[in-house]
Amino acid sequence: MIRSVVRGTGAALPRRIMKNADFEGMVETSDEWIAQRTGIRQRHIAADDETTASLGEAAARAALANAGLTPDDIDLIVLATSTPNNTFPATAVEIQNRLGMHHGFAFDMQAVCSGFVYAVTTADLYIRGGLAKRVLVIGSETFSRILDWSDRSTCVLFGDGAGALVLEAGEGTGTIADRGVLAASLRSDGAHKDKLFVDGGPSTTGTVGHLRMEGREVFKHAVGMITDVIEATFSQAGITADDLDWFVPHQANKRIIDASAKKLGIAEQKVVVTVDLHGNTSAASVPLALSVAVADGRIKKGDLVLLEAMGGGFTWGAVLVRW
Ligand code: UT7
Repeated sequence: MIRSVVRGTGAALPRRIMKNADFEGMVETSDEWIAQRTGIRQRHIAADDETTASLGEAAARAALANAGLTPDDIDLIVLATSTPNNTFPATAVEIQNRLGMHHGFAFDMQAVCSGFVYAVTTADLYIRGGLAKRVLVIGSETFSRILDWSDRSTCVLFGDGAGALVLEAGEGTGTIADRGVLAASLRSDGAHKDKLFVDGGPSTTGTVGHLRMEGREVFKHAVGMITDVIEATFSQAGITADDLDWFVPHQANKRIIDASAKKLGIAEQKVVVTVDLHGNTSAASVPLALSVAVADGRIKKGDLVLLEAMGGGFTWGAVLVRW
């Protein structure tokens, strides 16, 4: 059977780093509060010349170099983002053009923080359906552009960045010993819209709007939703937490990551944490964390890796990949 095998990873971050202490003169907060409640110590913030498209392009180029491929080898680009350069065309198409790629096709996926998990699952279906052989899956965000910088309950939590994977069609035997995407479970429930949303849009206010979140409410649902979707993925693949080599969760809050890992019985040393360095970069958070753990030699060929995310909508999902 066809499997979607990871061939390369890459990442890109804005030049400017903003430390927790840099907020102290802007809103009533402290380095201590942010670090204790979230695990975040710093985040990268995009300059005017750094956009979702430019960061996505840089991450894509890094993933292509890591894979030893060029844009000519790619058939499809799937970009997960909630902060596109323009309402349309899709920022994926802009990245396609920036890469000098004028064949194949490209589109955006919008599932907020779960966007990358949705995008990997979608790319896997295109590959297994025979519509694409090599797919660039990108998560790129500039959430700094939609933050209310006077709202301390949200502005300290998010950052900008991009990460990318190259998925390639490979032959598998149909067992979980295969390399590639092995199982996935996606969920959404629009009943939770008002807990995490942007208060603007082309069809309503005609403006871009700002991010609004009832953090405590999101927190309350997060661990249960995350563990449900991971247990569904485990049972699809016929594995337990002990079989995992790495858990790469969405990086929103260290307390949510710890509580989810504990509830699932995933050992602490198997959990990849980058929320301290990047903050919550929404759809970019999982591929950024993956890139860090691949670059530092933790994630190696043959490892069993679980990706997970939960965010606005609510949307949530998990994907199991043998590297
Ligand atoms: O990626 C999408 C998914 N998003 C998430 O997963 C975010 C989920 N939520 C969270 O991570 C947490 O709920 C937060 C980090 C947002 C907040 O942590 P919390 O422990 O749930 O705090 P809280 O909302 O219960 O607020 C505690 C107190 C409040 O003051 P009072 O009402 O107790 O007097 C807040 O006003 O902390 C206050 N507070 C702050 N204080 C200093 C809120 N933000 C800040 C701040 N600095 N930046």
